[in-house]
Amino acid sequence: MAWKTIDRNAPVIDADAAPALSEAVRDKIRSFFPRYDTKRAALLPALHIVQNALGSISWQAMAEIAELLELHPSDVMDTISFYTHFWTHSKGAKVITVCRSITCEILGGHAVLEELKQQLGIEEHQTTSDGRYSLATEECLAGCDHAPCLLIHERLHKRVKPEDVAGLLADPDNDRITAPRSDLFDAPAPDPIEPKEKEKTSDAGVAVLDSASGAPAMGGTD
Ligand code: FES
Repeated sequence: MAWKTIDRNAPVIDADAAPALSEAVRDKIRSFFPRYDTKRAALLPALHIVQNALGSISWQAMAEIAELLELHPSDVMDTISFYTHFWTHSKGAKVITVCRSITCEILGGHAVLEELKQQLGIEEHQTTSDGRYSLATEECLAGCDHAPCLLIHERLHKRVKPEDVAGLLADPDNDRITAPRSDLFDAPAPDPIEPKEKEKTSDAGVAVLDSASGAPAMGGTD
């Protein structure tokens, strides 16, 4: 096996580039701070927020997240590289994730993956030339009793056979889910704090709550 070498002296961030994270994204990340004892604990929500906003998490975005959470950039990169969910390069509008764990594998998951590769014309971790789909595999998707499974974006497709693949790809709603999303992606529930406390929090620049709804306000903490 050949080892990949990485030139650590080559700059990966353009010092003159505009910030990767908008103020709205930064404010949304900050809105998670009151939930935890440390800013470090908000790292996973921050990564979800940034990936949702930008599609992937660039080196520059990692550095800006690190600065916001008072971490070393390598802490952010370590976390990103641990989870296959996070992308460091741009991905397609929809990501198809095929389960590669034992139950799905035994029940035909590999054949489904091969059919997808053929129909999309890409290999794993690649994106179609029209930018519509990226393809990945992950360990168990928690649908073993419906194996073989795959996800399109966040929608789980169960008992998929190779002959289902064409129909799945042709369905424009193949990623549509009707279940409510985790509130990880939404504004956190307002704290039942006193008005005086609210004022103090606002002054500290940690979170500004909308006076009408109590929800975190966008663009108002700086
Ligand atoms: S083994 Fe595929 S969903 Fe669990």
